[in-house]
Amino acid sequence: MYWPKFSEAGLIKKIRKGRSRNGVTCTYIKWTKHVGLKVFTSKWARDQCAKLQGIAAENKLGPKVGEKAQFEVLWGETDDWDSFENAPQMRMKKLYCYFTEHADRPRKYQRTGKKRRDLECKLHRVGIDHNDLHTENVGLVNGKLVCIDFDYVSCIKCKPGEKVNPDADSYS
Ligand SMILES: Nc1ncnc2c1ncn2[C@@H]1O[C@H](COP(=O)(O)OP(=O)(O)O)[C@@H](O)[C@H]1O
Ligand SMILES: [Mg+2]
Repeated sequence: MYWPKFSEAGLIKKIRKGRSRNGVTCTYIKWTKHVGLKVFTSKWARDQCAKLQGIAAENKLGPKVGEKAQFEVLWGETDDWDSFENAPQMRMKKLYCYFTEHADRPRKYQRTGKKRRDLECKLHRVGIDHNDLHTENVGLVNGKLVCIDFDYVSCIKCKPGEKVNPDADSYS
């Protein structure tokens, strides 16, 4: 698998091309045909996610994990700024990312309910309790359904086989 090198110049190019998707905890930027970059606002969240994805990847239940990187952006935070006193507080903010193997989206008509249930069980066996394996959180790598979202809201590390999340059974 070919992993690209991270660079801020490269990142700006990809963002300008509009090749990003926003989730709740992570922004995904398509980098090359087979590689994407997952970007988080917290180092802890990035590391947690990369660690669980790494376990899944070793077991062919998630995309492979590449190099980690970090970069800074000028960040403005405000609810409302109708006057200069409320103007956004601008500051440099660090963002944390890692490269991941890209997963294709299952086709719209492709029903994945059974495979997602199967995937959930397999993740369990390797110590990942996932409670949010909906259609946006799975993808296809080499035609095989894998989990692509390992953030702390969706899943936690558990003892292999142990059920931690009792309501992890809603599939639509
Ligand atoms: N490895 C990947 N391959 C392809 N698309 C991805 C990958 N990881 C994330 N995405 C895309 O980015 C979106 C948000 O990423 P995700 O990890 O689900 O973040 P969040 O935890 O914020 O939901 C996903 O719904 C998907 O469209
Ligand atoms: Mg998601």
